[in-house]
Amino acid sequence: MRMSVVGTGYLGAVHAACMASLGHEVVGLDVDEAKVALLSSGQAPFHEPGFDELLKEQVDSGRLTFTTDPAEVAGALVHFIGVGTPQVEGGYAADLTYVDAAVASLLPHLGPVDGRRPLVVGKSTVPVGTAERLAAQVEPAGGLLVWNPEFLREGFAVQDTIDPDRIVYGLSKDESDAAEAKAVLDEVYAELLARDIPLVVTDYATAELVKVAANSFLATKISFINAMAELCTATGADVSTLAEAIGHDDRIGKKFLRAGIGFGGGCLPKDIRAFMARAGELGADQALTFLREVDLINDRTRLHAVDLARRAVGGRLRHKTVAVLGAAFKPDSDDMRNSPALDIARRVHDEGAHVKVTDPAAGPVLRKRGTRLEVVDSAREAADGADVVMLLTEWKQFKELDPDELAEVAPARIIVDGRNALDPARWRAAGWTYYGIGRP
Ligand code: UDX
Repeated sequence: MRMSVVGTGYLGAVHAACMASLGHEVVGLDVDEAKVALLSSGQAPFHEPGFDELLKEQVDSGRLTFTTDPAEVAGALVHFIGVGTPQVEGGYAADLTYVDAAVASLLPHLGPVDGRRPLVVGKSTVPVGTAERLAAQVEPAGGLLVWNPEFLREGFAVQDTIDPDRIVYGLSKDESDAAEAKAVLDEVYAELLARDIPLVVTDYATAELVKVAANSFLATKISFINAMAELCTATGADVSTLAEAIGHDDRIGKKFLRAGIGFGGGCLPKDIRAFMARAGELGADQALTFLREVDLINDRTRLHAVDLARRAVGGRLRHKTVAVLGAAFKPDSDDMRNSPALDIARRVHDEGAHVKVTDPAAGPVLRKRGTRLEVVDSAREAADGADVVMLLTEWKQFKELDPDELAEVAPARIIVDGRNALDPARWRAAGWTYYGIGRP
Protein backbone atom coordinates (compact mmCIF):
# COMPACT_ATOMS: atom_id res chain seq x y z
CA MET A 1 0.00 0.00 0.00
CA ARG A 2 1.19 3.54 -0.72
CA MET A 3 1.37 5.67 2.39
CA SER A 4 2.94 8.83 3.75
CA VAL A 5 4.27 9.69 7.18
CA VAL A 6 4.28 13.38 8.06
CA GLY A 7 7.03 14.25 10.55
CA THR A 8 10.26 12.25 10.66
CA GLY A 9 11.36 12.49 14.30
CA TYR A 10 11.69 9.44 16.58
CA LEU A 11 8.08 8.50 16.01
CA GLY A 12 7.65 9.29 12.32
CA ALA A 13 10.98 8.08 10.98
CA VAL A 14 10.78 4.78 12.85
CA HIS A 15 7.14 4.30 11.87
CA ALA A 16 7.96 5.00 8.21
CA ALA A 17 10.83 2.49 8.16
CA CYS A 18 8.76 -0.14 9.97
CA MET A 19 5.83 0.30 7.56
CA ALA A 20 8.24 -0.12 4.62
CA SER A 21 9.57 -3.29 6.26
CA LEU A 22 6.00 -4.64 6.21
CA GLY A 23 6.13 -4.26 2.41
CA HIS A 24 4.38 -0.90 2.06
CA GLU A 25 5.60 1.90 -0.17
CA VAL A 26 6.28 4.82 2.16
CA VAL A 27 7.19 8.46 1.72
CA GLY A 28 8.29 10.43 4.78
CA LEU A 29 7.54 14.16 4.69
CA ASP A 30 9.32 16.73 6.83
CA VAL A 31 10.00 20.47 6.66
CA ASP A 32 13.60 19.95 7.87
CA GLU A 33 15.73 19.69 4.72
CA ALA A 34 18.86 18.51 6.52
CA LYS A 35 16.95 15.69 8.21
CA VAL A 36 15.32 14.63 4.95
CA ALA A 37 18.72 14.60 3.20
CA LEU A 38 20.23 12.47 5.96
CA LEU A 39 17.32 10.01 6.04
CA SER A 40 17.30 9.79 2.23
CA SER A 41 20.93 8.70 2.33
CA GLY A 42 19.97 5.97 4.78
CA GLN A 43 21.48 7.65 7.85
CA ALA A 44 19.59 8.01 11.11
CA PRO A 45 19.49 11.56 12.54
CA PHE A 46 19.28 10.15 16.10
CA HIS A 47 20.58 7.24 18.11
CA GLU A 48 18.12 4.35 18.20
CA PRO A 49 19.24 0.71 18.43
CA GLY A 50 18.43 -1.27 15.29
CA PHE A 51 17.10 1.75 13.41
CA ASP A 52 20.22 2.49 11.32
CA GLU A 53 20.20 -0.98 9.76
CA LEU A 54 16.45 -0.99 9.17
CA LEU A 55 16.49 2.48 7.61
CA LYS A 56 19.34 1.65 5.26
CA GLU A 57 17.76 -1.63 4.24
CA GLN A 58 14.39 -0.02 3.48
CA VAL A 59 15.85 3.01 1.65
CA ASP A 60 17.99 0.63 -0.44
CA SER A 61 14.91 -1.47 -1.25
CA GLY A 62 13.36 1.61 -2.87
CA ARG A 63 10.18 1.28 -0.79
CA LEU A 64 11.13 4.10 1.56
CA THR A 65 11.77 7.68 0.43
CA PHE A 66 11.82 11.06 2.16
CA THR A 67 10.86 14.49 0.86
CA THR A 68 10.14 18.08 1.87
CA ASP A 69 7.56 18.45 -0.91
CA PRO A 70 3.97 17.89 0.31
CA ALA A 71 2.83 17.26 -3.27
CA GLU A 72 4.73 13.93 -3.20
CA VAL A 73 2.27 12.44 -0.73
CA ALA A 74 -0.53 12.61 -3.32
CA GLY A 75 -1.85 9.20 -4.25
CA ALA A 76 -1.15 7.61 -0.88
CA LEU A 77 -4.11 5.79 0.66
CA VAL A 78 -2.93 6.42 4.21
CA HIS A 79 -1.26 9.51 5.66
CA PHE A 80 0.19 9.10 9.16
CA ILE A 81 0.71 12.18 11.33
CA GLY A 82 3.84 11.70 13.44
CA VAL A 83 4.84 15.28 14.29
CA GLY A 84 5.70 16.54 17.78
CA THR A 85 3.33 18.12 20.28
CA PRO A 86 5.75 19.90 22.64
CA GLN A 87 4.80 21.86 25.75
CA VAL A 88 3.85 25.45 24.89
CA GLU A 89 6.22 28.16 25.98
CA GLY A 90 5.09 29.59 29.32
CA GLY A 91 2.31 27.06 29.94
CA TYR A 92 1.39 23.42 30.44
CA ALA A 93 -0.72 22.82 27.34
CA ALA A 94 0.44 20.96 24.24
CA ASP A 95 1.47 23.03 21.25
CA LEU A 96 -0.59 21.76 18.32
CA THR A 97 1.02 24.01 15.70
CA TYR A 98 2.80 21.11 14.00
CA VAL A 99 -0.22 18.80 14.00
CA ASP A 100 -2.39 21.53 12.52
CA ALA A 101 0.24 22.37 9.89
CA ALA A 102 0.63 18.67 9.00
CA VAL A 103 -3.09 18.21 8.47
CA ALA A 104 -3.31 21.47 6.50
CA SER A 105 -0.51 20.27 4.20
CA LEU A 106 -2.47 17.08 3.46
CA LEU A 107 -5.87 18.64 2.76
CA PRO A 108 -5.18 19.41 -0.93
CA HIS A 109 -4.17 15.76 -1.51
CA LEU A 110 -7.16 13.85 -0.19
CA GLY A 111 -8.84 12.95 -3.47
CA PRO A 112 -9.95 9.30 -3.95
CA VAL A 113 -7.25 6.68 -4.47
CA ASP A 114 -8.51 3.85 -6.70
CA GLY A 115 -12.03 4.84 -5.71
CA ARG A 116 -11.27 4.73 -1.97
CA ARG A 117 -11.22 7.64 0.45
CA PRO A 118 -7.71 8.21 1.87
CA LEU A 119 -7.10 8.04 5.61
CA VAL A 120 -5.43 10.64 7.79
CA VAL A 121 -4.15 8.66 10.76
CA GLY A 122 -3.03 10.61 13.82
CA LYS A 123 -0.25 8.98 15.84
CA SER A 124 0.98 12.05 17.77
CA THR A 125 -0.03 12.48 21.41
CA VAL A 126 -2.75 15.15 21.47
CA PRO A 127 -5.23 16.64 23.94
CA VAL A 128 -8.57 14.83 23.91
CA GLY A 129 -10.92 16.53 21.45
CA THR A 130 -8.26 17.18 18.80
CA ALA A 131 -9.31 14.29 16.54
CA GLU A 132 -12.93 15.47 16.47
CA ARG A 133 -11.76 18.94 15.46
CA LEU A 134 -9.43 17.62 12.75
CA ALA A 135 -12.08 15.26 11.37
CA ALA A 136 -14.16 18.36 10.57
CA GLN A 137 -11.33 19.50 8.28
CA VAL A 138 -10.38 16.13 6.79
CA GLU A 139 -13.85 14.87 5.88
CA PRO A 140 -14.92 17.84 3.70
CA ALA A 141 -11.57 17.51 1.87
CA GLY A 142 -12.43 13.91 0.95
CA GLY A 143 -10.55 11.94 3.63
CA LEU A 144 -11.37 9.91 6.73
CA LEU A 145 -9.76 10.58 10.10
CA VAL A 146 -8.52 7.91 12.51
CA TRP A 147 -6.65 8.25 15.79
CA ASN A 148 -4.11 5.48 16.23
CA PRO A 149 -1.84 6.38 19.16
CA GLU A 150 1.74 5.19 19.30
CA PHE A 151 3.25 3.75 22.47
CA LEU A 152 6.86 3.34 21.42
CA ARG A 153 9.67 3.74 23.90
CA GLU A 154 12.94 5.29 22.82
CA GLY A 155 15.64 2.67 22.81
CA PHE A 156 13.03 0.05 21.78
CA ALA A 157 11.31 2.07 19.07
CA VAL A 158 11.66 -0.47 16.25
CA GLN A 159 10.59 -3.41 18.38
CA ASP A 160 7.65 -1.47 19.85
CA THR A 161 6.44 -0.51 16.36
CA ILE A 162 6.73 -3.95 14.76
CA ASP A 163 5.66 -5.87 17.83
CA PRO A 164 3.49 -3.52 19.93
CA ASP A 165 1.65 -4.56 23.12
CA ARG A 166 -1.59 -3.43 21.49
CA ILE A 167 -2.99 -1.47 18.58
CA VAL A 168 -5.70 1.13 19.20
CA TYR A 169 -8.02 2.51 16.50
CA GLY A 170 -10.04 5.61 17.38
CA LEU A 171 -12.76 5.78 14.73
CA SER A 172 -15.52 8.13 13.65
CA LYS A 173 -18.93 7.83 15.35
CA ASP A 174 -20.43 7.38 11.86
CA GLU A 175 -20.64 3.62 11.50
CA SER A 176 -20.07 3.35 7.77
CA ASP A 177 -17.11 5.78 7.86
CA ALA A 178 -15.72 3.81 10.79
CA ALA A 179 -16.06 0.50 8.93
CA GLU A 180 -14.43 1.93 5.81
CA ALA A 181 -11.49 3.34 7.78
CA LYS A 182 -11.08 0.15 9.82
CA ALA A 183 -10.86 -1.99 6.67
CA VAL A 184 -7.97 0.12 5.36
CA LEU A 185 -6.11 0.09 8.68
CA ASP A 186 -6.57 -3.67 8.97
CA GLU A 187 -4.73 -3.93 5.64
CA VAL A 188 -1.94 -1.65 6.89
CA TYR A 189 -1.41 -3.74 10.01
CA ALA A 190 -2.40 -7.13 8.50
CA GLU A 191 0.90 -8.76 9.41
CA LEU A 192 0.70 -7.58 13.03
CA LEU A 193 -2.96 -8.51 13.43
CA ALA A 194 -2.22 -11.98 12.04
CA ARG A 195 0.16 -12.39 14.98
CA ASP A 196 -2.75 -11.81 17.36
CA ILE A 197 -1.50 -8.50 18.67
CA PRO A 198 -4.49 -7.19 20.66
CA LEU A 199 -6.60 -4.66 18.79
CA VAL A 200 -8.80 -2.18 20.63
CA VAL A 201 -11.38 -0.43 18.45
CA THR A 202 -12.98 2.64 19.96
CA ASP A 203 -13.97 6.27 19.40
CA TYR A 204 -11.70 9.29 18.97
CA ALA A 205 -11.83 10.55 22.54
CA THR A 206 -11.09 7.17 24.11
CA ALA A 207 -8.17 6.56 21.75
CA GLU A 208 -6.69 9.96 22.57
CA LEU A 209 -7.15 9.36 26.28
CA VAL A 210 -5.63 5.85 26.17
CA LYS A 211 -2.27 7.36 25.32
CA VAL A 212 -2.18 10.06 27.98
CA ALA A 213 -3.68 7.72 30.57
CA ALA A 214 -0.94 5.16 29.88
CA ASN A 215 1.81 7.76 30.20
CA SER A 216 0.21 9.23 33.34
CA PHE A 217 0.11 5.79 34.92
CA LEU A 218 3.77 5.15 34.11
CA ALA A 219 4.78 8.56 35.48
CA THR A 220 2.73 7.89 38.60
CA LYS A 221 4.47 4.56 39.17
CA ILE A 222 7.87 6.24 38.99
CA SER A 223 6.87 9.09 41.31
CA PHE A 224 5.24 6.63 43.68
CA ILE A 225 8.49 4.73 44.13
CA ASN A 226 10.44 7.98 44.38
CA ALA A 227 8.07 9.10 47.14
CA MET A 228 8.75 5.77 48.88
CA ALA A 229 12.46 6.52 48.42
CA GLU A 230 11.95 9.75 50.37
CA LEU A 231 10.48 7.74 53.23
CA CYS A 232 13.30 5.22 52.99
CA THR A 233 15.79 8.07 53.27
CA ALA A 234 13.95 9.38 56.33
CA THR A 235 13.94 5.99 58.03
CA GLY A 236 17.09 4.26 56.81
CA ALA A 237 15.12 1.69 54.80
CA ASP A 238 16.07 0.47 51.32
CA VAL A 239 13.76 1.37 48.42
CA SER A 240 15.30 -1.19 46.04
CA THR A 241 14.38 -4.03 48.38
CA LEU A 242 10.98 -2.45 48.98
CA ALA A 243 10.32 -2.26 45.20
CA GLU A 244 11.38 -5.84 44.75
CA ALA A 245 9.12 -7.00 47.55
CA ILE A 246 6.00 -5.13 46.43
CA GLY A 247 6.73 -6.06 42.80
CA HIS A 248 6.26 -9.75 43.59
CA ASP A 249 2.55 -8.93 43.79
CA ASP A 250 1.35 -9.39 40.19
CA ARG A 251 -1.20 -6.64 40.66
CA ILE A 252 1.65 -4.21 41.26
CA GLY A 253 4.37 -5.69 39.07
CA LYS A 254 8.11 -5.05 39.08
CA LYS A 255 8.34 -2.75 36.07
CA PHE A 256 8.68 1.02 36.33
CA LEU A 257 9.49 0.86 40.02
CA ARG A 258 13.12 1.89 39.75
CA ALA A 259 13.65 4.76 42.16
CA GLY A 260 16.19 7.37 41.16
CA ILE A 261 16.37 10.83 39.65
CA GLY A 262 12.99 10.37 38.00
CA PHE A 263 11.45 10.57 34.57
CA GLY A 264 12.37 12.85 31.70
CA GLY A 265 12.31 12.73 27.93
CA GLY A 266 10.09 14.11 25.23
CA CYS A 267 6.93 12.36 26.44
CA LEU A 268 6.13 11.70 30.10
CA PRO A 269 6.81 15.20 31.52
CA LYS A 270 5.01 17.17 28.84
CA ASP A 271 2.20 14.63 28.45
CA ILE A 272 1.15 14.74 32.09
CA ARG A 273 1.24 18.54 32.00
CA ALA A 274 -0.80 18.75 28.80
CA PHE A 275 -3.26 16.29 30.33
CA MET A 276 -3.70 18.53 33.39
CA ALA A 277 -4.13 21.59 31.18
CA ARG A 278 -6.76 19.84 29.07
CA ALA A 279 -8.62 18.56 32.13
CA GLY A 280 -8.75 22.16 33.35
CA GLU A 281 -10.30 23.29 30.08
CA LEU A 282 -12.88 20.52 30.42
CA GLY A 283 -13.74 21.54 33.98
CA ALA A 284 -12.35 18.23 35.26
CA ASP A 285 -9.09 19.50 36.73
CA GLN A 286 -9.76 17.91 40.14
CA ALA A 287 -9.56 14.47 38.58
CA LEU A 288 -5.90 15.09 37.78
CA THR A 289 -4.61 17.10 40.73
CA PHE A 290 -2.63 14.00 41.70
CA LEU A 291 -0.54 14.48 38.55
CA ARG A 292 0.62 17.81 39.94
CA GLU A 293 2.01 15.83 42.88
CA VAL A 294 3.58 13.30 40.49
CA ASP A 295 5.33 16.18 38.75
CA LEU A 296 6.48 17.74 42.04
CA ILE A 297 7.90 14.47 43.37
CA ASN A 298 9.77 14.13 40.09
CA ASP A 299 11.29 17.62 40.46
CA ARG A 300 12.17 16.96 44.09
CA THR A 301 14.16 13.82 43.36
CA ARG A 302 16.42 15.81 41.01
CA LEU A 303 17.07 18.37 43.75
CA HIS A 304 17.74 15.55 46.19
CA ALA A 305 20.52 14.22 43.94
CA VAL A 306 22.16 17.67 43.86
CA ASP A 307 21.81 17.80 47.66
CA LEU A 308 23.52 14.43 48.04
CA ALA A 309 26.45 15.58 45.92
CA ARG A 310 26.73 18.85 47.83
CA ARG A 311 26.67 17.12 51.21
CA ALA A 312 29.09 14.46 50.01
CA VAL A 313 31.74 17.10 49.27
CA GLY A 314 31.31 18.90 52.59
CA GLY A 315 28.43 21.35 52.02
CA ARG A 316 29.55 23.45 49.05
CA LEU A 317 29.95 22.51 45.40
CA ARG A 318 31.84 25.68 44.53
CA HIS A 319 35.30 24.90 43.08
CA LYS A 320 34.67 21.17 43.34
CA THR A 321 35.16 18.86 40.38
CA VAL A 322 32.13 16.72 39.62
CA ALA A 323 32.06 13.82 37.16
CA VAL A 324 28.65 13.27 35.59
CA LEU A 325 28.13 9.91 33.91
CA GLY A 326 25.20 10.30 31.52
CA ALA A 327 23.41 13.18 29.83
CA ALA A 328 20.60 11.43 27.92
CA PHE A 329 17.22 11.03 29.65
CA LYS A 330 17.68 7.25 29.51
CA PRO A 331 20.28 4.78 28.25
CA ASP A 332 20.47 3.73 24.57
CA SER A 333 19.31 7.17 23.52
CA ASP A 334 20.95 10.49 22.66
CA ASP A 335 17.78 12.37 23.56
CA MET A 336 18.33 15.07 26.17
CA ARG A 337 14.85 16.59 26.15
CA ASN A 338 13.91 17.23 29.77
CA SER A 339 16.76 14.97 30.82
CA PRO A 340 17.10 14.58 34.60
CA ALA A 341 20.83 13.90 34.10
CA LEU A 342 21.49 17.09 32.17
CA ASP A 343 19.30 19.13 34.48
CA ILE A 344 21.25 17.93 37.51
CA ALA A 345 24.60 18.50 35.77
CA ARG A 346 23.59 22.09 35.03
CA ARG A 347 22.40 22.73 38.58
CA VAL A 348 25.69 21.42 39.96
CA HIS A 349 27.55 23.65 37.51
CA ASP A 350 25.40 26.63 38.53
CA GLU A 351 26.51 26.10 42.13
CA GLY A 352 30.06 26.75 40.97
CA ALA A 353 31.39 23.24 40.39
CA HIS A 354 33.54 22.21 37.47
CA VAL A 355 31.38 19.57 35.76
CA LYS A 356 32.82 16.98 33.41
CA VAL A 357 30.06 15.08 31.67
CA THR A 358 30.28 11.98 29.52
CA ASP A 359 27.62 10.04 27.59
CA PRO A 360 28.27 7.49 24.83
CA ALA A 361 25.52 8.81 22.55
CA ALA A 362 24.40 12.19 23.91
CA GLY A 363 27.96 13.43 24.62
CA PRO A 364 28.86 14.16 20.97
CA VAL A 365 25.45 15.81 20.44
CA LEU A 366 25.97 18.01 23.51
CA ARG A 367 29.45 19.00 22.37
CA LYS A 368 28.21 19.90 18.91
CA ARG A 369 25.30 21.89 20.30
CA GLY A 370 27.59 23.85 22.63
CA THR A 371 27.39 23.72 26.42
CA ARG A 372 28.91 25.38 29.44
CA LEU A 373 29.74 21.91 30.79
CA GLU A 374 32.96 20.16 29.84
CA VAL A 375 32.16 17.13 27.67
CA VAL A 376 34.66 14.27 27.81
CA ASP A 377 34.85 10.91 26.07
CA SER A 378 34.92 8.35 28.84
CA ALA A 379 33.91 7.71 32.42
CA ARG A 380 37.57 7.49 33.36
CA GLU A 381 38.29 10.92 31.88
CA ALA A 382 35.25 12.40 33.64
CA ALA A 383 36.23 10.87 36.97
CA ASP A 384 39.84 12.02 36.70
CA GLY A 385 40.41 14.20 39.78
CA ALA A 386 36.69 14.30 40.62
CA ASP A 387 35.63 15.11 44.17
CA VAL A 388 32.41 13.23 43.48
CA VAL A 389 31.22 10.97 40.67
CA MET A 390 27.50 11.07 39.79
CA LEU A 391 25.96 8.22 37.79
CA LEU A 392 22.85 9.79 36.23
CA THR A 393 22.03 7.70 33.12
CA GLU A 394 22.34 3.97 33.60
CA TRP A 395 24.21 3.03 30.43
CA LYS A 396 25.45 -0.57 30.54
CA GLN A 397 29.09 0.54 30.37
CA PHE A 398 28.59 2.73 33.46
CA LYS A 399 26.86 -0.02 35.41
CA GLU A 400 29.79 -2.30 34.62
CA LEU A 401 32.48 0.15 35.75
CA ASP A 402 35.14 -1.37 37.96
CA PRO A 403 35.28 0.60 41.24
CA ASP A 404 38.97 -0.28 41.75
CA GLU A 405 39.94 1.00 38.31
CA LEU A 406 37.92 4.21 38.72
CA ALA A 407 39.47 4.81 42.13
CA GLU A 408 42.89 5.05 40.44
CA VAL A 409 41.86 8.42 38.96
CA ALA A 410 39.30 9.56 41.56
CA PRO A 411 41.08 9.24 44.90
CA ALA A 412 38.17 10.95 46.76
CA ARG A 413 36.12 7.81 46.02
CA ILE A 414 32.66 9.32 46.47
CA ILE A 415 29.84 8.17 44.20
CA VAL A 416 26.22 9.34 43.94
CA ASP A 417 24.25 6.63 42.14
CA GLY A 418 21.27 8.59 40.82
CA ARG A 419 19.76 5.48 39.22
CA ASN A 420 20.38 2.94 41.98
CA ALA A 421 22.14 0.98 39.28
CA LEU A 422 25.28 -0.09 41.16
CA ASP A 423 25.94 -2.68 43.82
CA PRO A 424 26.64 -0.61 46.96
CA ALA A 425 28.46 -3.48 48.69
CA ARG A 426 30.91 -3.84 45.81
CA TRP A 427 31.67 -0.11 45.67
CA ARG A 428 32.02 0.18 49.43
CA ALA A 429 34.35 -2.82 49.47
CA ALA A 430 36.56 -0.92 47.03
CA GLY A 431 36.74 1.97 49.49
CA TRP A 432 34.07 4.19 47.97
CA THR A 433 31.52 6.22 49.90
CA TYR A 434 28.30 5.25 48.15
CA TYR A 435 25.09 7.31 48.06
CA GLY A 436 21.97 5.99 46.32
CA ILE A 437 18.42 7.36 46.18
CA GLY A 438 16.42 5.94 49.10
CA ARG A 439 19.14 3.46 49.98
CA PRO A 440 20.91 3.44 53.31
C1 UDX B 1 7.50 6.76 27.26
C2 UDX B 1 6.50 5.59 27.36
O1 UDX B 1 7.11 4.50 28.03
C3 UDX B 1 6.06 5.19 25.96
O2 UDX B 1 5.10 4.15 26.03
C4 UDX B 1 5.48 6.40 25.27
O3 UDX B 1 5.09 6.08 23.95
C5 UDX B 1 6.48 7.54 25.24
O4 UDX B 1 6.90 7.83 26.57
P1 UDX B 1 10.08 6.99 26.71
O5 UDX B 1 9.92 8.46 26.83
O6 UDX B 1 10.91 6.44 25.60
O7 UDX B 1 8.66 6.28 26.61
O8 UDX B 1 10.78 6.52 28.07
P2 UDX B 1 10.49 5.48 29.25
O9 UDX B 1 11.21 4.24 29.00
O10 UDX B 1 9.06 5.41 29.54
O11 UDX B 1 11.22 6.23 30.43
C6 UDX B 1 10.82 7.54 30.82
C7 UDX B 1 11.68 8.08 31.92
O12 UDX B 1 11.38 7.43 33.14
C8 UDX B 1 13.17 7.93 31.73
O13 UDX B 1 13.79 9.15 32.10
C9 UDX B 1 13.55 6.81 32.66
O14 UDX B 1 14.87 6.92 33.12
C10 UDX B 1 12.55 7.01 33.80
N1 UDX B 1 12.26 5.79 34.57
C11 UDX B 1 11.69 4.72 33.96
C12 UDX B 1 12.51 5.76 35.94
O15 UDX B 1 13.00 6.73 36.51
N2 UDX B 1 12.18 4.63 36.66
C13 UDX B 1 11.62 3.56 36.08
O16 UDX B 1 11.35 2.58 36.79
C14 UDX B 1 11.37 3.58 34.69
